[in-house]
Amino acid sequence: MSANTNLSLAQMMADAATQVEAEMGTLLLTAGESGHQLYEAMRHGTMNGGKRMRPFMVMQSAAMFGVDAACALRVAAAIEFVHSYSLIHDDLPAMDDADLRRGKPTVHKVFDDATAVLAGDGLLTFAFEVLSEPDTHADANVRCRLVKALALAAGPLGMVGGQMLDLLAETAPIEDAAEITRLQQMKTGALISFSCEAGAILGKASHTARHALHNYAHDLGLAFQIVDDLLDVQGNEAETGKPVGRDSEVGKATFVSILGIDRARDQADVLATQAAAHLDMFEDRAAYLQALARFVVERKT
Ligand code: IPE
Ligand code: IPE
Ligand code: MG
Ligand code: MG
Ligand code: MG
Repeated sequence: MSANTNLSLAQMMADAATQVEAEMGTLLLTAGESGHQLYEAMRHGTMNGGKRMRPFMVMQSAAMFGVDAACALRVAAAIEFVHSYSLIHDDLPAMDDADLRRGKPTVHKVFDDATAVLAGDGLLTFAFEVLSEPDTHADANVRCRLVKALALAAGPLGMVGGQMLDLLAETAPIEDAAEITRLQQMKTGALISFSCEAGAILGKASHTARHALHNYAHDLGLAFQIVDDLLDVQGNEAETGKPVGRDSEVGKATFVSILGIDRARDQADVLATQAAAHLDMFEDRAAYLQALARFVVERKT
């Protein structure tokens, strides 16, 4: 990928982040009462920076099929609400016990544990409310497919199930790369897959197109989590905006703990290249998603 494409990818991601943040802000105004502790905690956990990578994936995949940008933006906001909820709960003392997220004190630090639990619950349920509304897509079947896809991605067969495996692995260590792959595919890959397939659902794309996006997301999601694990070892708090060195401290099973740094990095590289190749059939329409695969492995945040 040329330096120019990378530059414009950064610009495109920044524009997408600005747009989705405006949308999230507007939607949140209907989600609760300003000044209410729950609402303030939900805002603290979402309107707080972050790469907004999943929204970017929704917007890019939707653009590939000529989907109305306003519809895509609502789905982009919904996935970011779910992702942000997953982070609020992930940081709780009962889980990763982290004090810093996106460079700011975590929700349970600013408020309290119970409020953080409820803020996460609030964001999760609100995301489904957003998807169900006619403004998200005129066709109720499409809305229903989005709701089901997000439920599967976020639920026990997806992110929540992966988080459980991740916690169990602290006491019953995983030593097998296949098991780690499954864990990471569920905990991180599932929401990334939803983000890439959302555009195909919104655009009523062919099975072939949806499958290609699914394959892209599968490889990209794994590369993404491997790099997250590498950043925990090699990154720094100032850049990542979250504590580092915690995974090995608590004995988390990661690709890095199993393969070591160099092989994990190689694996992420291979997966990113493979991810981009799955989108060759879309030619120029997939240029930004293909560039994103490189970004995922080169990122420092
Ligand atoms: C962090 O996700 C949590 C994982 C799934 C590894 P991101 O790296 O996308 O976090 P933000 O949204 O940019 O803060
Ligand atoms: C969390 O993975 C993934 C989800 C929140 C579902 P991590 O625990 O590795 O994420 P970070 O490193 O805290 O962002
Ligand atoms: Mg975790
Ligand atoms: Mg964590
Ligand atoms: Mg991590």
